[in-house]
Amino acid sequence: MGCRNKFGMTCFFLLMFSKLLLAQEHTPSQNFNQNWKFFLGDDSLAKYPKYDDVRWRKLDLPHDWSIEGKFDEKAPGTTNEAALPTGIGWYRKGFTVPVTDKGKNIYIDFDGVYRDSEVWINGHYLGKRPNGYISFRYELTKYLNFGVRPNVIAVKVDNSAQPNSRWYSGSGIYRNVWLVKNSKTQFKHWGVTVTTPNISPAKAEIDVAINVTEEDVVHYFRIETKILDRSGKVVKQVSNTIDYKPADIIHQKVIIPKPNLWSVDEPYLYKLVVEISPVFEQLDPHPPIWDTYQTTFGIRSFNFDEQKGFFLNGKPLKILGVCLHHDAGALGAVVNSHAIERQLKILKAMGCNAIRTSHNPPAPELLDLCDKMGFLVMDEAFDMWKKKKTQNDYHLDWDAWHKTDLIDQVKRDRNHPSVFMWSIGNEIREQFDTTGIRIAKELAAIVKAYDPTRPVTSALTETNPQKNNLFKSGALDVLGFNYHHELFPDFPKNYPGQKFIATETNSAIATRGHYDMPSDSIRRWPHNSKDPLTDGNADMTVSAYDNASAYWGSTHEETWKVIKKYDFLSGLFVWTGFDYLGEPTPYPWPARGSYFGIVDLAGFPKDAYYMYQSEWTNKPVLHIFPHWNWQPGKTVDVWAYYNFADEVELFLNGRSLGVKKKQGDDLHVIWRVKYEPGTLKAVSRLNGKTVLVKEIKTAGPAAKIDLITDKNILKADGTDLSYITVRVTDAQGNLVPDADNKIQFEVSGAGFIAGVDNGLQTSLEPFQASSRKAFNGLCLAIVQSTHRAGVITVKASSPGLVPVVTTLFCNR
Ligand code: GAL
Repeated sequence: MGCRNKFGMTCFFLLMFSKLLLAQEHTPSQNFNQNWKFFLGDDSLAKYPKYDDVRWRKLDLPHDWSIEGKFDEKAPGTTNEAALPTGIGWYRKGFTVPVTDKGKNIYIDFDGVYRDSEVWINGHYLGKRPNGYISFRYELTKYLNFGVRPNVIAVKVDNSAQPNSRWYSGSGIYRNVWLVKNSKTQFKHWGVTVTTPNISPAKAEIDVAINVTEEDVVHYFRIETKILDRSGKVVKQVSNTIDYKPADIIHQKVIIPKPNLWSVDEPYLYKLVVEISPVFEQLDPHPPIWDTYQTTFGIRSFNFDEQKGFFLNGKPLKILGVCLHHDAGALGAVVNSHAIERQLKILKAMGCNAIRTSHNPPAPELLDLCDKMGFLVMDEAFDMWKKKKTQNDYHLDWDAWHKTDLIDQVKRDRNHPSVFMWSIGNEIREQFDTTGIRIAKELAAIVKAYDPTRPVTSALTETNPQKNNLFKSGALDVLGFNYHHELFPDFPKNYPGQKFIATETNSAIATRGHYDMPSDSIRRWPHNSKDPLTDGNADMTVSAYDNASAYWGSTHEETWKVIKKYDFLSGLFVWTGFDYLGEPTPYPWPARGSYFGIVDLAGFPKDAYYMYQSEWTNKPVLHIFPHWNWQPGKTVDVWAYYNFADEVELFLNGRSLGVKKKQGDDLHVIWRVKYEPGTLKAVSRLNGKTVLVKEIKTAGPAAKIDLITDKNILKADGTDLSYITVRVTDAQGNLVPDADNKIQFEVSGAGFIAGVDNGLQTSLEPFQASSRKAFNGLCLAIVQSTHRAGVITVKASSPGLVPVVTTLFCNR
């Protein structure tokens, strides 16, 4: 979000990147992703500028080499890390810097590298950063060659010490890289902070706190702060001449009359532009500007109440959140804002209004999108402190790095209106011993020193107040608990005066489109912490009737019923919004992806999605399931989720199977139906008037392929994506619910296939391929634009099915 830079870009460059930046909503820093060389393996000589990398692979960042590899039962990261390869990789990039940049300070910014990265410029060592999720910067200035002599930046990424994660991390420079060129007098990195200390309907007070680095002996300069509304109109402008001393923080206060507030429904964003320029040039109509910082920001207030829960802008708001890991399914850890935007759109349509970045600092693009689309974010720092969860994880780096990493996270993210809470850790082992008291206090104090405006929480599991040392530390503003929904009602008694949030819930499990009956018998898979699951399904599926969860969790309905009932429970974060790579509970290899998602890895909703939609949105919902292809005579449980209606009537081939109404706190209705092929029809009614009608038909044999694109017009910026859903249908267009035809894709023109998937947690087919088997009737192709404008033609075919072609357009 925050950003800088002014100098040294040619018009061509500006033109090219302004497009890219618009697409990414990122920063005016120079995007430094293009034309890198990559080598999978180790060669310590690669740090030297003269090293011959001619045989190395050419690629553009962001890049994740793990997702390109083969699944392997013996992968050192285990199935927890998706059984994909890890290891060591090197990246190199040659570049020139124009002579006109002499005298500037030049930096390279990495948004995130997994993990243990080391960086050299022209053979000079810049440093090491173990944390795989943190953003960091190195200054290049004094090692650079200017003019035609090239520079070489070399990055070693070491993800070889395994296991080091409980989920799929990816490997490599998997987030964006930026080159930043500034004047000697400049804003400090993440050195401009915008807060809104006083907000009323009449006016909002904006405090811009500015930290300047000033290497030259110029102590006088001018700071100009502008605030622009959503339409780009300047609504306020303040400018001061500053007599600066190096330790000073400059405050500029701006009053905005009748502010437009940021909320999850109306995420109004203002823009802040701060410029620093020399004083003596003020008579010049076009004075030089040394540095510009710009960021969007929001005006909003919130508070937690121990009895009434959460309030945003003075109005009660239940936090309807999901936990997300950082991978983008078939794209692996590679950051692509279009992929993140698609995930958020799917979640928004479900009624979700909050994201927990489990369990690490997110990509900046996620926060930009949450600001823009209206999601609250619980920004989480750590999955472990000094005590390990896996052998080679961050606990090894804790002593040396936790302070720096946490400070950098808070400084980087504190201007985002979406961020409303900091979590200093997930299920931290130190909650069980007294060392947790000291560390919790230390971390909370660090957060408060850099951001006194937001509460600190931690995702706890120890529910006994006498035994929970993080609670005892007194450092947590809001108590976060994972699971234990059955104990929630007792919290006010056990923790008098405390504020609550359910930081992680459910761990319900499901495979999209698979149904085990009876639907009302609940599987707790695994059954306990000791025994491997022996009575699961032979094909490693899990029923999608919302009748399965891990033993420590609950079904979707079980937890939501409790959260819904009590105002003091400010909200929840369901584990998880999407299936993710790794942690394939409850099954071993070849399962390699999680079953916890409300939506599968390919982005196809499982049925529980509609339960949330019926509860969390204001749009009318009627969802009936399962599919209607069974053995004749079998008793099939038919469920319906619905809202804005007081009854649902079900019909089979025109015969009524009865009217059902939700009783008590029920969230669905159910019919037990003797199967016969044909049409199942549900009608929801309110006061006798039809609200919605839904039909499912028995599908005949697979005959056709149906392609649904989420976007037909792409930007020719090399990053835009179109997600193409493939439905295998019968001759009439009904989805064939068990179709597993292998679909071959041919893409020609101005795009390529970035990934394929079908959401099946046990599939060992590669994600980077031009074909994919359908799973339960569906698969996905992700088509990416290049820098060329033009047409992209996508053909999908499969033996025995009528092939189909769709066309996408790429514009500049
Ligand atoms: C939680 C943990 C998550 C994930 C989840 C799976 O205890 O915080 O990271 O492992 O269990 O159910």
